[in-house]
Order: sequence, then C-alpha cells, then structure tokens
Amino acid sequence: QSPKVSPRPPMGFNNWARFMCNLNETLFVETADAMLEKGLLAAGYNNINLDDCWPLQERTSAGELQWDPTLFPHGMPWLGDYLHTRGFNFGIYTNAGNMTCGWYPGSQDYEEIDAKTFEKWGVDYLKVDGCHMDLQKGRTYYEEFEYRYKLWHKVMDKLKKPFIFSQSAPAYFSPNFHLDKNNTDWYRTMEYVRSNGELARHSDDIKVYGLNVTFEPGGHWESMMNNYGMEVRLARYQSCGFYNDPDFLIIDWPDLTLDEKKTHFTLWSSFSAPLILSAYIPDLTNEDIEYLTNKDIIDVDQDALCEQATLVSQDGDVDVLTKNLANGDRLLTVLNKGDDAITYRVPLERLGIDPSGPHKAKDLWSKKTITIRNAIDVKLRRRQTAIYRISPSRGKSSVTPTGQIFNTFS
Ligand code: DGJ
Repeated sequence: QSPKVSPRPPMGFNNWARFMCNLNETLFVETADAMLEKGLLAAGYNNINLDDCWPLQERTSAGELQWDPTLFPHGMPWLGDYLHTRGFNFGIYTNAGNMTCGWYPGSQDYEEIDAKTFEKWGVDYLKVDGCHMDLQKGRTYYEEFEYRYKLWHKVMDKLKKPFIFSQSAPAYFSPNFHLDKNNTDWYRTMEYVRSNGELARHSDDIKVYGLNVTFEPGGHWESMMNNYGMEVRLARYQSCGFYNDPDFLIIDWPDLTLDEKKTHFTLWSSFSAPLILSAYIPDLTNEDIEYLTNKDIIDVDQDALCEQATLVSQDGDVDVLTKNLANGDRLLTVLNKGDDAITYRVPLERLGIDPSGPHKAKDLWSKKTITIRNAIDVKLRRRQTAIYRISPSRGKSSVTPTGQIFNTFS
C-alpha cells in the first residue's frame, strides 16, 4: 500500500452542486481570487476542483482528452499555473466508465493515457466518478468497479506525484441506489477504497442548487440529513489518509437558514470529512465566511487522530456524537433535527467521561468556556448544532474507545 497523499481531509472548492455543467475558466479564476481575498485559502481551503463537462467530445488522434477551448480559452496547463502560483492545488474530474454522467468521454480503457495527460497539465487532485460502466471480460457490475478503481490506483502510483484520489465507487452501491437489500456490495466497496485512495463518496449527491429551486423547492436539508445518516454508518472505515465523503458543503442555497448551514459545517467537521465548498464564492457574505473559517471547528476537522465522530445516542430529534481529539480532549456534538427549540441534557457518563469532573468545555461557536460536572445542558434552536471541546481535568486520559452503538453493519 502506498503512502497517502493527503494526510488530512481535503478542503477546497468544487463547482458541481452549485453550477453543474455551467463551468468555464472565468468561474475558476474568480473563485481562486475570491478564496484568497476572503481568507478561505488562509483558513485551509486549498483545492480548487473542476467537475464534469469540461472536455471536448473528441479525443486527439493519440487518444488524449482535450479541454473545450470555448470554455477554457487559455487551457488547463494555464489554469493549473494560475492556481498553483496563488497557492492552490488543481483538481480535475474524470469517470471510470466510458462516458461521464454528463455524457462526455470517460476514461475506461484510457486510464494510463488520461493520468499522464492530467499530470502534464499540472493536476494534483482527481475525482473519478462511476457512470456508464461498460462490463468487460464477463465481469459483474461490482467486479468492473473494483477492477477500474484499483487500476486507477496503480496508474496513479506510477506518477511522479500521485494525485489526491477522490473515488465515487461506493456511492454507486449505496442503499438508495443499488438493488442489493443487504448492502453487501456497498460495504465490500468501502473495504477496498479505503486502501486505494484518499476519499470515498458513499451516498447520493447533495441536492444541486438550480434544479431543486426551480423544479422541486426545498429538499436540501433533507438531502444533507440523508448523507449524514449514511456517513454515521461508515465511521469504522476512516483513518488518517482515508476519509468518508458525504459530499459538498452548500452555502448559498436560498432555502437554507444560517443555522442549517452551520449545522452542515459542524457535522462534516465532526466527521473529519472533506470540506469542499460548492458555492459562488465571490458572493458569499461576511456571515458565511465567518462561520466557514471558524478555526476551532476546522481544527476539529483536521485533527491529527482523524477520527469520525460516532453516534452515542439518538433521542427524539436529538443526536449526540463524540470523538477523541489528538491532545486528549473529547468532542461533543449535539444536533437538533427538529423544528422546535429545545434544551437537552447530556450526562457525561454517556460519553464515557468521568462524571465527577470538573471539566472545561469550550463552546466552539460562542467561544465561551464553562466548567461542567455530571452533565452538560445544551440549548438549541430549530436544526441547530452545538459543538464543544471538552478538556478532562484528570490528565490526558479521555482517549478511550468512543461509543459506536449505532455503527452497525446494516
Ligand atoms: C455524479 C457525482 O456524484 C456528482 O458529484 C457529479 O460529479 C456528477 N456525477 C457529474 O456528472
């Protein structure tokens, strides 16, 4: 197994959920400039990734992919340079099957050529999607995926600098997508992708911006909650260098409240999930930037133990999650999924922390530190999430197995 190229969960930008196929050079230039200017790069968001629909339909006579020059007039190497000189990684998209989901040429049987082309263009990060898989040599659907994604790993391994490898394979076997009652293929896919690349998308696409606002109002909170629910089932697969990917953070969707968006950010950070923004960055408000650059919460996301928070209880509308942090602290995340404001008491015993305390608990949103014993009372508005860093008073002894009671195999 080769060393992982991204020891911590990647942070950055991808155009898909916000712009889908409406991408061009200007969007990425504006995004990079705005991410610099608004302090997002300084906060750690350093990958700028293109998604589907960037290539021409025809490959060159040598079989190479080509960018669409009407969309990218200066070309990909130029864009790569533009991003690199400003301190960003350059990410691009391809598809393991023979066409992308948007019906552009896929990489099936062109893996080596395409990897070399991307390397030549200065790519650092590659998302490999899983549409239109052509079953070859009598392979089953599952086997073709496994073959293609492992082949991608081998091909990238031979590059001078392997790309950060974002894999979509498990999403194509997810319970909502795949006709396999026992989810066996989903879990089997998770087992090989964890040693094959840095990221694995495991669930549906977070609902895209325009589509749902125009044809299907709302649905974004529900889609976020769906991916949250899928993520909590997979905590055991995550370890430093491999991250479960519950999809993009959506920031500028008109039907989401600030509390809902902050919940999204808090949960994804508690998971140590990739923090990839899909939004029109130049128009993000100061309020948005302020929460997206909350250093205490980003530190939780990027924590050196790389643990994914696990559920310790689900009680009515309230989910309680916890994980260990590298300095011996313990994370406490409390989500109110309901429509009513509540006060919820979390007994410290439920977290496996000595209830007698006294312990310090820092609220990572308000930045206030309180002293706790026995329990902590958390006040939450509708769909709000609280996040605390608890520093146990009795030495650095809180690194104990955290609750995994909902982390089952079905
Ligand atoms: C499906 C993926 O899950 C999305 O994130 C996006 O890459 C689209 N395909 C592009 O067609």
